[in-house]
Amino acid sequence: MPKPILKTENLTFSYPTEGGQPKVVLNGLDLEVEEGSFVAVLGHNGSGKSTLAKHMNAILLPAGGKVYVGGMDTSDEALLLDIRRTVGMVFQNPDNQIVANVVEEDCAFGPENLGVAPGEIRQLVDEALESVGMYHLREHAPHLLSGGQKQRIAIAGVLAMKPRCVVLDEPTAMLDPTGRKEVMETVKKLNAESGVTVVLITHHMDEAAQAQRVVVMADGKIVADGAPKEVFQRVEELKTVGLTVPETVELLYELRKEGLDLPLDALSVDECAQALSQLLT
Ligand SMILES: Nc1ncnc2c1ncn2[C@@H]1O[C@H](COP(=O)(O)OP(=O)(O)O)[C@@H](O)[C@H]1O
Ligand SMILES: [Mg+2]
Repeated sequence: MPKPILKTENLTFSYPTEGGQPKVVLNGLDLEVEEGSFVAVLGHNGSGKSTLAKHMNAILLPAGGKVYVGGMDTSDEALLLDIRRTVGMVFQNPDNQIVANVVEEDCAFGPENLGVAPGEIRQLVDEALESVGMYHLREHAPHLLSGGQKQRIAIAGVLAMKPRCVVLDEPTAMLDPTGRKEVMETVKKLNAESGVTVVLITHHMDEAAQAQRVVVMADGKIVADGAPKEVFQRVEELKTVGLTVPETVELLYELRKEGLDLPLDALSVDECAQALSQLLT
């Protein structure tokens, strides 16, 4: 792989528990994310996804092993600001991420914190709001907007800091289907048109299916890693780590069990329909 934008080496992390043994959450995790790629991270609840995400811009520091962001060791305090500039984070709850009463002020908060000159901030904020399709609402109050719109503002707030990589931790979990779609379209465009590396943590299989690469975590380790078409064919294995597969694959899988000669890699609804119609005609 050319220089990875994110790299973990034998990463371990545990949380303290009351009185007892520390709870090991990341367990020797090795991951490299190529710059410009779009990677989805899947895993059952408690598998360590959020803990991993927080290592990707030094919110948490490794207990063992290393994390590198654009080659920078996250445990080097002197690099903290550069690391935070390189990787932006978007979290699940848009309401917790909005800090101002006007959309554009909210968006300016990140670059202000990074010490960007006021003259430059205007342009960064305008560009960021344009790129998530929220420029026309720049003077609105964020709390009056829909969940999907709020989450797009949170993404714009991160983009205004010109990161090379954005890590989104279940950004659609609290959104309705329209909001989910808005956020997914925004994220895909960001990656395809601006070349921003995207790490999308999600529990929606159909969202993961839209990434270039799917990484599956279980108990603080990576248990599967590959193109969506490869990973989602491993139906039994995914079920043993508490995950489902996209509904298209589930249908094909069940029909195969009934003896029908169908491929398992028809991920999109179109591909799935085509595979079925080919068999029937
Ligand atoms: N701040 C914390 N203190 C103690 N335990 C935590 C904390 N955050 C997460 N955990 C525990 O670590 C494990 C992994 O959590 P997390 O990384 O949030 O997983 P995921 O995002 O995959 O659901 C879970 O068992 C969770 O209860
Ligand atoms: Mg989580």
